[in-house]
Amino acid sequence: MELKGLSVAVTGGASGLGLATARRVLATGGNVTLIDLPGSNGEEIAKELGDGAVFAPGDVTDSEQFAAALDVAHERGGLRGVVHCAGAGRKMRVLDKEGKAGSLEDFEFVIRLNLIGSFNALRLGAERMAELDLIEDERGAVVMTASVAAFEGQIGQINYSASKAGIVGMTIVAARDLASKGIRVNTIAPGIMDTPLLARLRDDVRKSLEATVPNPSRLGRPDEFGRLATDILENGYLNGETIRLDGAIRMAPR
Ligand SMILES: NC(=O)c1ccc[n+]([C@@H]2O[C@H](COP(=O)([O-])OP(=O)(O)OC[C@H]3O[C@@H](n4cnc5c(N)ncnc54)[C@H](O)[C@@H]3O)[C@@H](O)[C@H]2O)c1
Repeated sequence: MELKGLSVAVTGGASGLGLATARRVLATGGNVTLIDLPGSNGEEIAKELGDGAVFAPGDVTDSEQFAAALDVAHERGGLRGVVHCAGAGRKMRVLDKEGKAGSLEDFEFVIRLNLIGSFNALRLGAERMAELDLIEDERGAVVMTASVAAFEGQIGQINYSASKAGIVGMTIVAARDLASKGIRVNTIAPGIMDTPLLARLRDDVRKSLEATVPNPSRLGRPDEFGRLATDILENGYLNGETIRLDGAIRMAPR
């Protein structure tokens, strides 16, 4: 499915990996709808990206808002691709420093944002794609974002790892569920990517992070994620797979 002229929604599109993906969609000649929080600078970013980009505010954990934002993309000639990048972490442990049970609120917050948000992207995205005619032998494709923490979560990531492992677990099931509709589902599991969050780190901390990546020994570039995401959307035989994008890093316990 060549993206040229097609409509792709990118959640978390106002920043980091989502923004890099939006740029790649535009570079391939596709149209992009940035879906991000109503309070984000999505409007401004869409203007900067220029023709082909629009902003549709929506919280991915709010089904009504998210559906309305996906409709904006769907009305631009039919939603063919969703790259779901909206997500975040919140440090917590099984037991806190005083030995008390870890916060259920922090656990639920991250599960809701990362896992339920991803299921929303799948179900609401697929619902729209299923209405479309086939292009070659498919109707559309969804790319979700996990993390290497799905496999080697570090201390303090119990909620984040659970949410990302859930996304990895959903990938093959969703690909099977949606096979009869001609909709593919894949997931990218990034390592340490150079997004705004990491830009704030001290130089020495950044260098020590880079040293943990075997090859290339640096942080991942957001554009490397964007390229993989658009390649997955375009490659009709790639389905039900989680791809690590991580320079061969295997995370240590802390
Ligand atoms: N940066 C990394 O090193 C890294 C590594 C592994 C996985 N990831 C995953 O990649 C994804 C993107 O990360 P990033 O580094 O680009 O983060 P980022 O903070 O730069 O961007 C995330 C975007 O998501 C938006 N967002 C947050 N909650 C939302 C909600 N409820 N509804 C809609 N939008 C919402 C934010 O406003 C923001 O624009 C996340 O799922 C993250 O867990 C990132």
